[in-house]
Parts: sequence; structure tokens; C-alpha cells
Amino acid sequence: NGGAHPYKGGLTFTPVAPNTNDQVTVPNGYESAVVVRWGDPVLPGAPAFDFEAQTPDAQARQFGYNCDFVTLFQFGRDRGLLWVNHEYTNEELMFRGYTNGDNATPEQIAIAMNAHGGSVVEVRRRGNTGRWELVTAGPRRYNRRITAHTEMRFTGPAAGSSLLKTAADPSGRVVKGMLNNCAGGTTPWGTVLTAEENFNQYFVNAGKAPAEAQAGLTRYAFPAALGGRRWDRVDERFDLSKHPNEANRFGWIVEIDPTDPDSTPIKRTALGRMAHEAATTTISRDGRLVAYMGDDSRFEYIYKFVSKDRYVPGNDRHNRTLLDNGTLYVAQFTGDSPAAEIDGTGKLPTDKAFDGVGKWIPLVSGTRSYVAGMTAEQVLVFTRLAADKVGATKMDRPEDMERNPVTGTVFVALTNNTARTSGPDEANPRLNNKHGHILEIAENRDDAAALTFAWTLPLVCGDPNDPGTYFGGFDKTKVSPISCPDNVTFDKDGNLWISTDGNALGTHDGLFAVPVRGKDKGHVRQFLTMPKGAECCGPLVSEDQRSVFVAVQHPGEGTGASPAAPISHFPDGGTSQPRPSVVVAWHKHGKKIGS
Ligand code: FEO
Ligand code: CA
Ligand code: CA
Ligand code: CA
Repeated sequence: NGGAHPYKGGLTFTPVAPNTNDQVTVPNGYESAVVVRWGDPVLPGAPAFDFEAQTPDAQARQFGYNCDFVTLFQFGRDRGLLWVNHEYTNEELMFRGYTNGDNATPEQIAIAMNAHGGSVVEVRRRGNTGRWELVTAGPRRYNRRITAHTEMRFTGPAAGSSLLKTAADPSGRVVKGMLNNCAGGTTPWGTVLTAEENFNQYFVNAGKAPAEAQAGLTRYAFPAALGGRRWDRVDERFDLSKHPNEANRFGWIVEIDPTDPDSTPIKRTALGRMAHEAATTTISRDGRLVAYMGDDSRFEYIYKFVSKDRYVPGNDRHNRTLLDNGTLYVAQFTGDSPAAEIDGTGKLPTDKAFDGVGKWIPLVSGTRSYVAGMTAEQVLVFTRLAADKVGATKMDRPEDMERNPVTGTVFVALTNNTARTSGPDEANPRLNNKHGHILEIAENRDDAAALTFAWTLPLVCGDPNDPGTYFGGFDKTKVSPISCPDNVTFDKDGNLWISTDGNALGTHDGLFAVPVRGKDKGHVRQFLTMPKGAECCGPLVSEDQRSVFVAVQHPGEGTGASPAAPISHFPDGGTSQPRPSVVVAWHKHGKKIGS
């Protein structure tokens, strides 16, 4: 495999040792700095951050909480727009005395709603380095905050469906806000695709919704009663006993144009509804747009969307219709080793590989459903129910996906699944999978629109001393331990960069790099480590490979942590409260990231 693709590799940095320090630690020769953090003014005129004097209005104009997906739209060499998702909020760390949503003040709930969504911020290169910094003066005319209130519209085959209609929106075409946006992707025409993930947690009273709504609400795990964030206390639409269809208006891929601050974000219904982790686009052999997507929950599925029409470089108006017309598929994986050899421990079968073949099963194409007993609209709104019916493979929490620019293969992070207590299969070979694995898909004829593929597991994560791990065949005494892969990206040389969430080895999460071809295949090295309580998101290696961006999400999260007893002081140090932040790392002498 890969013979047609010369693989360059070229990682030579000395890995960072696993640790539990309350800082971002980078390899020798590198530096790091905060680019932007929770509360930093985004819109011109926004107030400076004051932890003790937060207001909903200030938060609507400041950088939001829990940054996740990060992407950079560069204007020339030294300027750019950074897009950042704000997935969720840690109210227990944001507000003194916070106990739960039942006792929260309405103002606290309103602040949290405005801390969700996303941000567009102008950034610039500092000097002639790989360091980028927030532009803090001037018109900053692109800067934007998206919140739980931002007006968005639905497009695609389910727009206007009765399943999306509510009292506030009898058209079924207009919705306020996006929720729990985790990872994302970009389009070839320069927009962001941001993925609504665990949107169920914002709602209450699913148990009191009408009987006909129950199957959908149950399959998407909406809370039966009260509890959680209690947004219904300030915005009645989150009460499913009153507005059951509001549930169906979240869980979509949202397209946002970062260069037009007045544009209306679009929820693209043709891409289905699930706990979307991300959407990674590429172009098929015949020029169609393909988006790969994971549904991040235990035993959920991997999907792809293939547009009906071709991408036409430069024809922006045409290209912006591609995500509304096409076919949604779900993946089925078949192993090539005898089932008896997949013993659940992670021990390799006799062919020395977890591998096999698979197929993409069509679910819906425009107004045509391929699923018995479901209309096209039902397939798009209740995609999980549709996938359940067609024999798709239940995976160990599909997180981010990314296509390797050198090999053309598609990599998926399967983060973990401790609920797998029986029935390991070759694509999810471990029971009680605490540490996760990486799956690589080689589409037939290297065509992203293919209906069949080969697959392999290049990495089965964990402590390399654990015999149930696999590091691409590399010498396991020389690799960094890695646990719970989440977001992934590639550098231009085709090296895979993996950020982790939930390291189950007792040390902090971080960012890792690993060659996927050649003699160093599987040589995982840790590039940076997170402060206390944080997961590592982002990650992004810049086009010029001089900078790597990561999001430090939920620093200070942990049992019993509160503003009275913070367990992290990242990034401001001293006795400060922790603040989710985007960090950039670069080589002191301007060398390529990974050198
Ligand atoms: Fe928000 Fe699947 O991580
Ligand atoms: Ca095999
Ligand atoms: Ca994630
Ligand atoms: Ca995660």
C-alpha cells in the first residue's frame, strides 16, 4: 500500500515525557503562547474579561468557552481569520457557588448560552516567527460571535419538513443557535463545517413529549425529566413537553462563511442528524464533493456524504449548493480473520493485522429513501434509526476523520468504548476498550466516492507495555504511550497528528504525531502535553508548517473543582481561574513543525 505515493515522513523532535504539570509543555527547541482565551474581547468595544463581573451581554461579545475545532483562513503570509468552536460550558468553574441548573440564576444560564457556539477572530503573525496573536485594535470587521441565539436556516431535503416545524418556526426553515459544536472541517470554497455533537443535554422532559416523538427522542438519548443545564428555565423551547420538535433542529452540520460576518449560518440537512463530531471534505475522482463524518457515541456509526454534482473550482454560487444534493451512506466493516481469533484482548490475529474490507450502504439520496419503512425526511432527521436497520457496524465512538493528503487514505479516531462487554469484531477488537484505536480506510481505486473499501487498524492505543496495543509494527519500547485519540489532522508530509481526550493512563492529555508509512510507521511521539483537567482539541498544522495550533479545552475540570478551589490556573497562572484557550506552538529557529 502507498507505492504510488512517496511518503516523506521526517519527524525528528524529542518527545515530551508524559506528565501532570499545569501547563502546556512542548519539545526542546519549541515555544508556545496563548493566542486567545475565554473572555477576550472579540467584537470591537467588548469589555475586558472580568471573572467576577460576567454578564450575558459581555459574553456575547467576548471569546466563548471550551474551544474545540480550530482552523485558520490565512490572508497572505501574516494575517488570517481563526475559526474556533465553543462546544460547551463548565458552569461549576465559571460561576462562584454554582451547584446545578435547577439553582442557577437566569443570568448564569444566559451567560452560558452566549458562551456556546463559535468565534471568528482576526489574528496576525508576530514578527518572522511561527507565533500568531490576536489582533486587539482596529476595525476587525470579520470578527464574529455565534451563540445559542444566532439565527440560522435549514437547507437540503429536510428543510421545511413537518419534523422541523415548531410554534416559533412554522416554516421549519429557521432556527436559533447551534449547540455543542465539537470538531469540524472546511470546504474547498473556504467555509467552515462545524458539527453539533451532544445537543441532547440542553433539553428536558422528553418523557412528557407526545408518544409519536418518543422513538426519536429515546434513540438520541434526550433526558426524560429535569436535570442538567436547565436552559428551559430561560428559554421554553428547550422543554420537550411543550416543543418536542425543537429537539430535531439540533444535531446537524452547520456551514459558516468566516469572511462574511453578516451571513446566515446554514444547517445542511442532507448530511443527516446525529452526534456529529466533524465533517472532513475531499473531492472524488469524478469531481464530486465527499464529506466523511463520525457519530460520537458508543456503538454509533461512520458516515459519508457524496454530492450529486461536481465541484467547480471558482464557481462559488454553484459549489454552495453541493451540500444540499447528494447521497448519505453508512459504513459496514468486515474482518478477514476468523472471528475466533478476535479474542477481545487486542492480541493480533494470525495474519498479524486487524483488517478487512467494507462497504458504504446508501441511506438516502435527496427525496429518495433506501431504508424500508422510513421516508427520506425521516432518514435525515433520525439517521441513527435508519442506520440501525441496514446492517451498519457499531463502532467504539467515532470521533474525528481526516483524509491523508499524501496517501489518500482516510483516518478515523475511535476514542474508546468501555461499554463493549461482548462481541468484539475485527474493526473494534477490544472488550472494555479504555484507550481507543485508529482506523484507516483505503477507498476502492483511491476514489472517495467508491462504494467499497479496504481497512486496517494502524494503531491500537494504550500503554505500549500492554500486549493488547499495536503501534503499526514499530518497536514499542521507543514510542510514547497514547490513550483516547479524539481529533486528528495531517501535516503536508502525511504525518498524522492526534489530540487526546480522557487519557486513561494517569497522565495528561496532549498532542501526538506519528508517521503512517515507511520505516517510522507507528512511531508515536508526544508533541505537547495539556494543563490539569484539559483535553486537547484543534489540532491544526499551518499551511507553511511553521505553526501548530491546539485548543486547551476545559482546563481545571475535575471532581470537586470550583472557583473557590481551582485545580488549574492555566493560562494566567498565580491564583487565577482557568480559562479555555487556543495555543500556538512553533520552533524557535523557524524549523518545520516536527523537526
Ligand atoms: Fe466533543 Fe466527540 O468529542
Ligand atoms: Ca486480519
Ligand atoms: Ca472531539
Ligand atoms: Ca471527545
